Amino acid sequence: MKTPVRVAVTGAAGQIGYALLFRIASGEMLGKDQPVILQLLELPIDKAQAALKGVIMELEDCAFPLLAGVIGTDDAEVAFKDVDIALLVGARPRGPGMERKDLLLENAKIFTAQGAALNKVASRDVKVLVVGNPANTNAYIAMKSAPDLNPRNFTAMLRLDHNRALSQLAAKAEVAVGDIEGLIVWGNHSPTMYPDYRFATANGVNLKDKVGDADWNANTFIPQVGKRGAAIIEARGLSSAASAANAAIDHIRDWVLGSNGKWVTMGVPSDGSYGIPEGVIFGFAVTTQNGEYTLVKDLEVDDFSQKAIDKTLAELEEERSGVAHLLG
Ligand code: NAD
Ligand code: LMR
Repeated sequence: MKTPVRVAVTGAAGQIGYALLFRIASGEMLGKDQPVILQLLELPIDKAQAALKGVIMELEDCAFPLLAGVIGTDDAEVAFKDVDIALLVGARPRGPGMERKDLLLENAKIFTAQGAALNKVASRDVKVLVVGNPANTNAYIAMKSAPDLNPRNFTAMLRLDHNRALSQLAAKAEVAVGDIEGLIVWGNHSPTMYPDYRFATANGVNLKDKVGDADWNANTFIPQVGKRGAAIIEARGLSSAASAANAAIDHIRDWVLGSNGKWVTMGVPSDGSYGIPEGVIFGFAVTTQNGEYTLVKDLEVDDFSQKAIDKTLAELEEERSGVAHLLG
């Protein structure tokens, strides 16, 4: 039997948490032979703690053979103690009349504290995925608040955008979604993101050539992928949860177990590639192997793509300067 992996999930009693925990405990994220210990964080308010207690009761009632333990807490240092993986899902949602800037500042406080707690008590190799919005900037704040941890281990979730783009492209190009390789979503998890299928293929056929419709790319594909989150909120009255949890599982599974040569999109701190300033958490194409990711480098950037990348970078830079004063 393998040693259990400790997985922290924040916001564990929320909608994404409910769609996520049972799949982690059943082995879908780390493998069917990998025991896990779940360390769950919720707000220190009665309603949230009661809901968390209920979720833990349900986890127990599943009798998952791979679930080697569950901890529920309102203390980040308990939740993150020795964790190998941290899924930071809990975040302050946008309230009525709240500006984007206010949301940024409210979440900056949460992610400063959680970054510091990870820095203090997590495994030195902890892999961190930030799901809570604004995901890229929250990941940046957590990374900056954890100076003793490797910055490369702080990532933001763009996998949902990647998966959304795969589905839209598969339908348009009339290919199977699983056959598509070489897709990228550049930038911020926000409507400025740039889903890019210039290099995408299915069974060796280039999909840009196959689709051959620049108008569809600019006026349907890119805005539809970028605004998909809002469309789900409009339709459901709630933000995406099952698909977000699924993307989080895809992100961590590929990071830990490898993407078998496939490009996947991860929000990772830039190493300066493509002119993205070092440290900005940006969606890039990566491949993953042996628990490490490698940026796909030296791709051609044409004028259209450069403009799109500049736009999403400008938004991230604006977010970064909005929280700079909190980071010292
Ligand atoms: P939710 O409101 O259902 O659940 C969030 C939970 O987090 C709540 O139970 C709340 O009590 C808890 N929480 C809030 N602040 C916390 C803190 N400081 N510590 C611990 N727990 C805390 O929301 P949800 O639908 O599960 O979504 C969670 C986040 O994920 C939101 O920010 C949402 O916008 C974001 N999201 C991101 C993506 C993405 O692709 N990156 C996709 C969908 C949703
Ligand atoms: C999503 O992409 O579904 C979410 O990030 C949307 C949101 O604003 O919560």
